Amino acid sequence: MSATIESIAIVGAGRLGSSLAVALDAASHPVRTVSSRNAASAEALATRIDGARVAQPEDAVATCDLVFLTVPDGEIAPLAASLPWRDGCFAVHCSGALTLDVLAPAAQAGTLTGCLHPLQAFPAREGDASRFHDIACGVEAPPPLDATLERIVADLGASVVRLEGVDRARYHAAAVFASNYAVALAAAARRAWELAGLPADRARAALAPLMLGAAQNIAAVTNDDLATALTGPIARGDIATVERHLAAFEGNADTAPDGDPELAALYRRLGAELLALDLDHPPAVAARLRELLEAG
Ligand SMILES: NC(=O)c1ccc[n+]([C@@H]2O[C@H](COP(=O)([O-])OP(=O)(O)OC[C@H]3O[C@@H](n4cnc5c(N)ncnc54)[C@H](OP(=O)(O)O)[C@@H]3O)[C@@H](O)[C@H]2O)c1
Repeated sequence: MSATIESIAIVGAGRLGSSLAVALDAASHPVRTVSSRNAASAEALATRIDGARVAQPEDAVATCDLVFLTVPDGEIAPLAASLPWRDGCFAVHCSGALTLDVLAPAAQAGTLTGCLHPLQAFPAREGDASRFHDIACGVEAPPPLDATLERIVADLGASVVRLEGVDRARYHAAAVFASNYAVALAAAARRAWELAGLPADRARAALAPLMLGAAQNIAAVTNDDLATALTGPIARGDIATVERHLAAFEGNADTAPDGDPELAALYRRLGAELLALDLDHPPAVAARLRELLEAG
């Protein structure tokens, strides 16, 4: 049974706090106070939400049923330790990497504590409710806060992944691989593009659709078999092409005196990760790919 929430506080009017506040409001959840370190940030968000006012965090804790601490990870514990928590209200942080321990001072005062971590990147303070649609949100909380957070997540158009007993550092690293390291891949692709002799300023626009296409292929996988989302030379078992790619970057005096051995190493490491998928190559092709990609 989820508890009835009549007032929600957002403490931290940054990228996630703004998006969450706007999405909660769009889903008819009552955001009543907005707090932030700078009054201007809180004011800018509060003016976008009907019925919300700027408040000090102490006031938010005293008057709201559910308080989201959407401040940077390093600020959560000191902020939680500084507030006058009370029995009967809920305190929730949104960090993927942190456990509920950071909210211990609230728990000691009788406040139920939880985590709601959206598996999504919120790059801007403008706040966009649609960024919650069809995403997953990690949730950890005791009853009845867990049911309340599950209902909120469903109302935002997202699904729940329960985080009880989950290694939070590894869970958050998974999110970093999927999100932040996609940017690292874009940077590596841009390096290869430039080494090929193409203009750097065309790289992002030319390569981003390929990344979007790959992400769409991953999203469309129905049987959980990532190999079905894979195209390209490793999927095809095209050994000669893989050999040419490696030679192009390895700095071999004949083939690529201006090579980039780091790029070759990255190509190998990521390619080796693909070989762990079920690619269904004939044994000789699989063996040669392993030799090429697992070397070094
Ligand atoms: N952004 C994302 O993509 C994303 C995704 C999932 C989870 N998260 C989680 O969401 C939380 C916030 O991240 P963010 O990216 O939104 O950070 P952010 O953009 O830096 O926003 C943090 C906000 O908190 C305010 N603030 C900082 N210290 C404060 C304090 N002591 N008291 C009150 N307000 C304070 C800042 O203040 P002023 O602006 O007022 O100076 C800022 O508006 C983190 O736990 C993060 O792990 C973020």
